[in-house]
Amino acid sequence: MRTDPLGYLRKELDSLKEQNLYRQLRILEGEQKARTTVDHKSVVNLSSNNYLGLTTHPKLRERALEAVKQFGVGTGSVRTIAGTMEMHMELERRLADFKKVEKVVVFQSGFAANAGTVSAVLTKEDVVISDELNHASIIDGCRLSRATIKVFPHKDVDGARRIIKELPASQRKLLITDGVFSMDGDLGPLPGLCDVAEETGCIMMVDDAHASGVFGKNGRGTIDHFSMHGRVDIQVGTLSKAIGALGGYIAGSADLIEFLYHRARPFLFSTSHPPAVVAACMAALDVLMEEPEIIERLWANTRFFKEGLQRLGFNTGASESPITPVIAGEGSKAMQLSDKLFARGVFAQGIAYPTVARDKARVRTIVTATHTREDLQYALDAFQAVGRELGLI
Ligand SMILES: Cc1ncc(COP(=O)(O)O)c(C=O)c1O
Repeated sequence: MRTDPLGYLRKELDSLKEQNLYRQLRILEGEQKARTTVDHKSVVNLSSNNYLGLTTHPKLRERALEAVKQFGVGTGSVRTIAGTMEMHMELERRLADFKKVEKVVVFQSGFAANAGTVSAVLTKEDVVISDELNHASIIDGCRLSRATIKVFPHKDVDGARRIIKELPASQRKLLITDGVFSMDGDLGPLPGLCDVAEETGCIMMVDDAHASGVFGKNGRGTIDHFSMHGRVDIQVGTLSKAIGALGGYIAGSADLIEFLYHRARPFLFSTSHPPAVVAACMAALDVLMEEPEIIERLWANTRFFKEGLQRLGFNTGASESPITPVIAGEGSKAMQLSDKLFARGVFAQGIAYPTVARDKARVRTIVTATHTREDLQYALDAFQAVGRELGLI
């Protein structure tokens, strides 16, 4: 009889269960909205990256449906063979205007944009200097590139400078940070890091996945927020979060983008975006330009909720964005907090090691523009009750 060569996976899963790290997927029954139904329960949703509520915006829906009618549901090819439609080029031109750069290339996801770009621009002779809390897709891109990886302490500009100064001046270096850190909601120190990159001749790269649509004029991101235009060589954006659809992109010089057209492996070897997604992304750009009040609402809600949590006495870390962690300590405490909130109709995922440090497990909350004050007050009341029960406040 054949023994199961994948039998060891069961042991791995059992070990996750023993450590309380085994996750059941929660099932969304209906649309991705501020108030929705998850696992048969009506909840205030504090778990999505749908910052502006664009996943269900009428303009995006309408344009996606029109695109399906006109162009069908798929492209049937990678971009470099037969999968580039005029609309793909138009989206890239519009994103380049939006980001104030020469050119943009769109990838299937933000993950693919990061991993595909870092691995394309670096070789094993090079060095990458990366913030310790950078996103997994950056880390994977670094590994794929086979470059030497040097990690600097979170947001420590002088730490990054010290590492770079010890490296041979002639070696190619990439300095990389998230614009908004996805688990803590704090901002990368762009002005300081751009200074270091210029002093030392590093390539400067910023992953603005959580900043696109949220920070800067009309949601142009942290480069715009910090007035760093022209000082960041490689900007990463996502179309999967505030933009409400799916995809990622790299914004930069014409040479960078043409190089990626030739060397970025997800671009070369994975099918392009279906027409509905491309059309929805372009509609989202229209919304950012025509309805900036949505972004103002996001920030008003962010202030209300963050201040509410802080007034209750929760540890919300150093967040500066709509991502607000509620730090609980041990993993099991964070999971209890999340479960008890869910029982009261508030959906906020618990996040534990290895995604965050062992003693900094948390419930991560994300406020959107489409939450009502009643939704947010309801959530604050639930946090107060559960926080007291667990001795967190
Ligand atoms: C900082 C950061 N970069 C990149 C990504 C990947 O983006 P996408 O979901 O579009 O693949 C994420 C998403 O979790 C993220 O948080």
